Amino acid sequence: MQNKKIVILGTGGTIAGVASQASNNIDYTAAQVGVSDLVGAIAGLNLIETEQVAQIDSKDMSFEVWTVLANRIQHHLMQNDVQGVVITHGTDTLEETAYFLQAVLNPSKPVVLTCAMRPASALAPDGPQNILDAVTVARHEGAHGVMVVCAGDLHSALDVQKIHTYQLNAFGSGDAGLIGFIEENTLNKVRNWPLAQQIQAQTATENIAFLNAVRAWPKVEIVMNYAGANGALVDALVALGVQGLVVAGTGNGTVHQALEAALLNAQAKGILVVRATRCTQGRVLPRVDDRFPSSNGLSPVKARIELMLKLMKITS
Ligand code: SIN
Repeated sequence: MQNKKIVILGTGGTIAGVASQASNNIDYTAAQVGVSDLVGAIAGLNLIETEQVAQIDSKDMSFEVWTVLANRIQHHLMQNDVQGVVITHGTDTLEETAYFLQAVLNPSKPVVLTCAMRPASALAPDGPQNILDAVTVARHEGAHGVMVVCAGDLHSALDVQKIHTYQLNAFGSGDAGLIGFIEENTLNKVRNWPLAQQIQAQTATENIAFLNAVRAWPKVEIVMNYAGANGALVDALVALGVQGLVVAGTGNGTVHQALEAALLNAQAKGILVVRATRCTQGRVLPRVDDRFPSSNGLSPVKARIELMLKLMKITS
């Protein structure tokens, strides 16, 4: 295993960002440094191959980039001499990319996304250590599935969520907790690897073929419940031809009666409606009088991805 290579795919983000002053951690431009330069500056990394898949601020993540990324990951994972894949990514939509990749690829080898909260030009950039830690995870015996490494913590794609705007340790895994910690180039696990979904080995290839052929992804949007919410946004989205709606409800997925009326109207027209919660912890639990199915523990952004994949009939 140890003589196999790790492929590091670059997509941009703060980890590749540059500011005009080293002391400035905010006014930088993301996605400026190539992944080969980022990796080349880290001593002690052996048997590494790099590839620049995209160079974007992840707030601008697109279905096109996701499709290219899924293709390139699958290509590399299928090579016998590749042990795993690491992806450098912006923190802002990292949890969405991680969930998408897990749902589509369900890889039997490790796919580890990593990131940084300080640009590459910072006095003390966090990116190099995060890359090193991600490679440690990708080389770990038995590692598989899509995971996220940030600030020494290892998260599963299912549970990870960005929970802080500024601190280096910007991610949490809520009630599920971390898979483990990366300490001094060693992964110390505190729970099992996430369960693999029950999909066929060839499904990833089929899913990718389907993604490559799809002309337009389904229109699925997120609406939120809040004090004084009404149905105007939902009505407008229905008029625009939305195919699915995720409602980020309050508490246990509750929805203002005016918003609920509009969502019921949408549902009656055949639009798929899923109920998630705007709470960052906990899951929506079923109740006897539920009008909309729950997101099965998925956050609103992940429930949206799940709904798009369902509408495209992609297995996850
Ligand atoms: C991005 O998400 O690309 C920018 C922000 C970050 O990486 O922290």
